[in-house]
Amino acid sequence: MGSVDMDGLIVRPIVDGEWEALRSVAVAAFDDEVIGQLVDELRASWAWIPELAFVAEIDGRVVGQVLYTHAILDTPDRLVDVLVLSPLGVAPDLHGHGVGDALVRQTLARLGDRPEPYVFLEGSPGYYRRFGFRPGGEFGVRKPSDRIPDAAFQAYPLATHNDSMTGTLVYPDVFWRLDAVGLR
Ligand SMILES: CC(C)(COP(=O)(O)OP(=O)(O)OC[C@H]1O[C@@H](n2cnc3c(N)ncnc32)[C@H](O)[C@@H]1OP(=O)(O)O)[C@@H](O)C(=O)NCCC(=O)NCCS
Repeated sequence: MGSVDMDGLIVRPIVDGEWEALRSVAVAAFDDEVIGQLVDELRASWAWIPELAFVAEIDGRVVGQVLYTHAILDTPDRLVDVLVLSPLGVAPDLHGHGVGDALVRQTLARLGDRPEPYVFLEGSPGYYRRFGFRPGGEFGVRKPSDRIPDAAFQAYPLATHNDSMTGTLVYPDVFWRLDAVGLR
């Protein structure tokens, strides 16, 4: 890998006209066209939160993306709106330079005044633990599929979190229809 000037890295919400760039970087990161469908369909769904679609940019090039969308926590006494972080992708030629790290840290830092009590995700505990994610089971939250390994189902509590917020995470239908949940 060559050197990359990370001083020029900017993390920010997407602006008009940038959707194709976000989509392309997501597909390239995962090397999977289904990720393109996933981001398109999330964007068209009730789960979409326009201000929580972020890109990382270096010298005018979109080199990474992360989305936070709505999901539901089915708690013992009510349904609670929560966030799901998915997908997170970095351009393959820039993996391992800290772009993903900056995207996650800087966007989590912007969620301080959100009403949702949690961000959930499926991912490597080795990667996400450094940001403060913990296994969902530690919060008394059940994963939405048995095909998600326990350690991979992770939660990040936000400001409004309290210990009564236990239950089962329910994904929006988009994730199910694209078979984008857990391991096959
Ligand atoms: C995962 C991803 C977003 C990380 O972004 P990145 O900019 O390459 O990563 P960073 O430079 O910020 O961090 C590098 C660190 O992450 C670790 N890492 C990268 N991908 C990892 C993975 N899939 N599992 C565990 N650790 C991983 C590296 O080993 C490195 O660890 P170190 O800091 O201890 O040396 C990026 O590699 C990517 O787009 N991958 C393909 C899509 C994907 O798997 N997305 C996440 C799905 S949950």
